[in-house]
Amino acid sequence: MSEKMRTLTEPFKIKMVEPLKVTTEEYRKNVLKKAGYNPFLLSSSDVFIDFLTDSGTGAMSDKQWSGIMMGDESYAGARSWEHLESVVKDLTGMPYILPTHQGRAAERILYGILGGKDKIFISNTHFDTTRANIEFTGATAIDIVYDEAKNPETDLPFKGNIHLEQLQELIKKHGKENIAAVVLTVTNNSSGGQPVSMANAKALKKICTDNNILLVIDGCRVAENAYFIKHREDGYADKSCKEIAQEMLNLGDAFIMSAKKDGMVNMGGLLTVKDEALSVKCKNLLIISEGFTTYGGLSGRDMEALAIGLTEVFDEDYLHYRIRSTAYLGEKLKAKGVPVVWPIGGHAVYVDAKQLYSNIPVDQYPGQALVCDLYTKGGIRCVEIGSLMFGKYDDNGKLIPATNELVRLAIPRRVYTQSHIDYVLDIFDDILALKNQTTGYKITYEPPFLRHFTARLDKINYSIK
Ligand SMILES: Cc1ncc(COP(=O)(O)O)c(C=O)c1O
Repeated sequence: MSEKMRTLTEPFKIKMVEPLKVTTEEYRKNVLKKAGYNPFLLSSSDVFIDFLTDSGTGAMSDKQWSGIMMGDESYAGARSWEHLESVVKDLTGMPYILPTHQGRAAERILYGILGGKDKIFISNTHFDTTRANIEFTGATAIDIVYDEAKNPETDLPFKGNIHLEQLQELIKKHGKENIAAVVLTVTNNSSGGQPVSMANAKALKKICTDNNILLVIDGCRVAENAYFIKHREDGYADKSCKEIAQEMLNLGDAFIMSAKKDGMVNMGGLLTVKDEALSVKCKNLLIISEGFTTYGGLSGRDMEALAIGLTEVFDEDYLHYRIRSTAYLGEKLKAKGVPVVWPIGGHAVYVDAKQLYSNIPVDQYPGQALVCDLYTKGGIRCVEIGSLMFGKYDDNGKLIPATNELVRLAIPRRVYTQSHIDYVLDIFDDILALKNQTTGYKITYEPPFLRHFTARLDKINYSIK
């Protein structure tokens, strides 16, 4: 294949289509208002381009669909389980493999066993379900990335790395016996989908081994991370992405995966461990809460599709297309003058709404204003990752804003074509033309936890300066 072709062109052709409803701006204004200016409350049939998440939203291949027909639905020892188990053993190098219905079920089992009051977990960044499952046990979750990585503009190859020096300090401060585990999230979802280098993971492994601390790899995007290592880290250019992922996963004592990402399936999860005694504890909890050890929360057909997805994801042409097509959107947005988190991560582009909508104060949710404008102008659904999601209130009810006001455009795998992405870029022209005419929002209803999912908002009408 020519290098030009390899820059972006989708390495698949379309065999089945799902029609999209084309709506007018007037229609979208109405339904958004009815949804309380919260796109989570929209019907997906009113969405043209759905960038809400890359989790479970990918398209399966013809091989995966034929695997669905071949699924063995036996309760115990199903062929499809044996297929999945052998693929995952080969990938992780770990002997004990447990299927779960999705990532957070694996988290609940492992962290339920490791956690508890006075226990500490340390991570580059705990994903929100990871943190919730850890804190639910009474334990504390601490995030440590390097300061440079917190700045959306610093151009570094591995902004997902865990802060090794801070880790050593935390071990000294809390005592190694109180550290339940270190969780390395690859790529680092909550920090812009930024990759972790092999050098960082290896140095982390050494610290964990020296201190007898369990190392968990939360690797739902480990294939995307491997692509970045191959192209950015010395010594990896000639290795395949699969070999790189194997090398990284081999460093862990346990591996947790939401298979809805690089597993290329719509539902599924995995928990794998090296230690037999830990595996027995996990299996006992799995049986109580998910299902027998050879199916966890999955049907035979799900396991068959996942076994195939975990093989397909390491196709070098697919991964090249995946990372380049995400970068294509981000690079073109940057060239238009849209401020984006840099460099572009693996699964999403993050727009800095505080900078783009600088006329809207943070307590009027500039990120949500952009989310609403993208939907109204183009039927594009995405999510605010800013003060609506993470803001808290002080004792006087004043908003304590989040560190950043970002909007995440998460790209589902193998779903949209370059022309869809070009359409999104066109809509951003409208956004740039109108950006100073947009007003902020106020919350009219919010639940006590995870408010962004169900909050309702209203526009604040003030004269635009
Ligand atoms: C890094 C990471 N860990 C864990 C999870 C949780 O997985 P699930 O949504 O399958 O429960 C996610 C989901 O987005 C994730 O990105």
